[in-house]
This record gives sequence, structure tokens and C-alpha cells, in this order.
Amino acid sequence: MASITIRQLDEGLKRRLRLRAARNGRSMEDEARTILRHAASLDERIEPGGTPETRAPHTARRGSSATAHALGPAAEHADAARTKRILLIIGGGIAAYKALDLIRRLKERELAVRCILTKAAQEFITPLSAAALSGERAFTDLFDPQTEFDIGHIRLAREADLIVLAPATADLIAKLAGGHADDLASAVLLATDRPVLVAPAMNPRMWEHKATRRNLVQLIADGVAVVGPNSGEMAEASEAGIGRMAEPLEIVAAVLSLIGRAAGEGALAGKRVIVTSGPTHEPIDPVRYIANRSSGKQGHSLAAAAAAAGAEVTLVSGPVHLPDPPGVKIIKVASAQDMLAAVMNALPADVAVFAAAVADWRPAKAQLNKIKKGPGGAPKLALTENPDILATVAHNTKRRPHLVIGFAAETDHIIEHAKAKLARKGCDWILANDVSAESGVMGGDRNTVHLVTAQGVESWPPQSKEDVARGLVARIAETLAGAKR
Ligand SMILES: Cc1cc2nc3c(=O)[nH]c(=O)nc-3n(C[C@H](O)[C@H](O)[C@H](O)COP(=O)(O)O)c2cc1C
Repeated sequence: MASITIRQLDEGLKRRLRLRAARNGRSMEDEARTILRHAASLDERIEPGGTPETRAPHTARRGSSATAHALGPAAEHADAARTKRILLIIGGGIAAYKALDLIRRLKERELAVRCILTKAAQEFITPLSAAALSGERAFTDLFDPQTEFDIGHIRLAREADLIVLAPATADLIAKLAGGHADDLASAVLLATDRPVLVAPAMNPRMWEHKATRRNLVQLIADGVAVVGPNSGEMAEASEAGIGRMAEPLEIVAAVLSLIGRAAGEGALAGKRVIVTSGPTHEPIDPVRYIANRSSGKQGHSLAAAAAAAGAEVTLVSGPVHLPDPPGVKIIKVASAQDMLAAVMNALPADVAVFAAAVADWRPAKAQLNKIKKGPGGAPKLALTENPDILATVAHNTKRRPHLVIGFAAETDHIIEHAKAKLARKGCDWILANDVSAESGVMGGDRNTVHLVTAQGVESWPPQSKEDVARGLVARIAETLAGAKR
């Protein structure tokens, strides 16, 4: 089929098309396509003896694009508004191949994807692959006469609901932090007023370099969201460390969280959620501490799932080796006392989920100097009880969240202990899990939980910690919605 060539239209028509496109906030090509689609759908809908204008709109199928076009520009606009548009900027790193999978994953979620490939990105993948997967032309040049006759880079910057840089190379991050605009990607990034998400991917030494650290701090201060990088094997032989790009599904979760929140959408939109995660470290002296094996995976997944559902999330985390979940305010603490203070500071909230494995006891007096080995044998370690964060918040009558949820890590009599904990702590729900060594839950990726409420016990099947998090968030949303009715 012939493509639309706007340049071949006469000047008068071009001017009218430009004005109409500007009025409707679309590119000239998109406006021309809209007009054609509209005309085609009207043609299809004319029945003998009737005209499009006389046809009753209520006979149209609700929500379909054809309907929207047939009903005219306002409905068309609403239809277009439902499809969120992602502008994916692909940088020149090895992980560029993963950007192709990312396009597929975003499209699967009915997001429109348009791609820009930097010059270096084209050394790794082709604009043709990006165009074929996205179903839209892939853009590469700032000085492209076909698009720049109507300032195409400004359009690209404005037509997106979210701009995603993946892989975000050290170079792209530096350009964005420095405000450069010497190619299409950087010019679009400077010209946009839309939220930006970066998924860094680079060699661990590049990631640790002071310049990259500085640039990242600048981006975060500028309000840019960051997903990853993860730690693991690098493409380079015998290199490992932090620098692997986040997996496409992690990036998708960040995208959904950011666009959902920007549009005030999602099952938890407008709700404030506090999540605690990870272990606590209780100091014995400046170099030693008491800790536990919690990895923080369950708590971090919960924070990410709540953010993806549109909640404003504060994650209070003990020391973990996990990337910060995207779209979440994170407060990093070490001891149980610090965690309690951070949680109390984060109130009020609609929901609080206490997934951290808080140490029950701490050394009664942390020594200021390192305890020396001596002839007197092993030192006696006097312990004192830590504050009970879950019970403190659940009994806080003035600022008690609507839903207070605790986790019970048990190694035996799991459900009985969880029921007793629910009554003792005054919380609404307990998620009980078996953390015995053979369960592999502590530090592992899967979890088997039992949801204990005043109504009874629900045992969920074994599943990933992400799925547990999504399931719990869905239950929270249902409960809050029920409470409102
Ligand atoms: C084989 C190869 C792999 C590369 N991988 C990365 C990478 O993963 N991350 C990165 O920041 N730079 C990487 N680089 C360097 C970038 O390609 C280079 O800095 C380039 O200028 C980035 O351009 P861009 O940010 O405009 O895409 C790589 C270079 C080569 C030759």
C-alpha cells in the first residue's frame, strides 16, 4: 500500500492539515491517517437509505476504534487517550538486543511504542527490527528532512506519555545529565516535559566511575526514574558486577507504574502505602552486628507491585543487595530502632505492610570500640528487646493505617503461630510463611504463604515472590474498594 506523502500535497492543504494536527495534538502524518480512517469507517457504515450523520451512535460497538472515529474528533480523542504511547530511546550497548524484547512486551500490554535508535545503537540492532516489532517507523536522525520539516523532534518529545531509555549507556546518561542536544535522542530528551525512565546498562567499572555516579545523582535530582541495573555476569568474558540492564519485564513494571501514576490510574491510585523490607542490623561494636538471612526480595516486590498499581509508596528498607524498585520513595535504615523511626515519620498512610525481618533483640549496649579478644574468654552479650514496629503501628489509634499487614516468618506450627500473632499484634492480616532451611524461602525467589485474617486462613499455592506481591496488592485494592462502598 502506498504511504502518505505529505510533501506532495498542495501548500493550502498542507497548511490546513498542519493547523488541524496542531489543534488535535497529533503529527501531520497521524492526522492524515486519522482522516483516512475516519473516512473509511464512515464508508463502511453507510447503509442503504441512510447517511453517516443519520445513523444512531448507540448502535456502535462501545470502545472500539471504529466507533470512536465514527463518532467524530472528541470520541476519537478519548480513544487515542486510552492508548498510552512510549517513546523508547535505544542506546549503543550490548543490551540493545534486549530492547527488541522490551518492545514486544510493551506492545503485549497494548502500549504504542515508537523507537529512536542512536547512531551507536545501530551498530548492535537495526532500525528495521525496531520498526517491525513496534509497527511504527523507527527514528534515527535529527536532521531528517522527512520529519524535521515540521520540527519532528519536538513532536516526538511531546507525543509520548513516557520516554524510556533502554539501554541507557554511560554516554546517554552523561548527555542527559549535562543537557546536551547534539543528536535526535538527546535533543528529544531536552525538549520533553514528559516523565523519563532510564534503564542503565554498562560495564561495572563504567557504572562505578565517579562521573557516572555524579550524573546519576543529577538525573535523580531532576526527577528522572531509574530501573536497575542488576548485578550479574556481563557480556565481556570474566566480568561480573553491577551493570546488567534490568530485564524487560522489570522495565515494563516500571513503565506501568510510572504511566499509571501520571494518569492517576491503577487499583491503588491515590493511596499511600508503607512497606518495610529486608533484615535489620543490630550493632555489637563498630564492626560486628546481629543480623538475619532476609534478602528483602518479598518486601521489595511488594513495594514495586503497589507502585505499579498506582500507589504512592514509601519503602523502608534494611540493608539489602537489591536495586531500588522504580517509582518508590526509599528510606534506607540499619537497625530496628531506625526502622521504627522511619515508619512513624512516613505516616499517615492508607496501608502498611511489614515484610521486614526485624531483629527481636539487640545488644543492650553497642560498644564504641571494637571488642578485643582477651584472656577472659568470650564476652557476655546482654540483649534487650527491640521495639515491635508492627504492634506499635497497629495500636497507633490516631494515625493507624486503614489496613495493617504483618508477615510471620515461622519454622514450625506456622498457622497457629500466625493466628496468635494476629491477635497479639492488633493487625488486620498476617501473611505466614515457612522460613525453615528446607523451604528455601529466606533469600530464595519463591514463597508459600497463608493469609490469616479474622475471617479465616487462606493458603496460597507456592509461587514467585513477585506473584505473592501482586496477589496481595490485588487483595488490598479489593478491600479498600469494599470499605469505600
Ligand atoms: C561492543 C561494545 C559494547 C558496548 N557496550 C556498552 C554498554 O553496554 N554500555 C555503555 O554505556 N557503553 C557501551 N559501549 C560504548 C558505547 O557504544 C559508546 O559509548 C557510544 O558512544 C554510546 O553511544 P550512545 O549513548 O549514543 O548510544 C560499547 C561499545 C562497544 C564497541
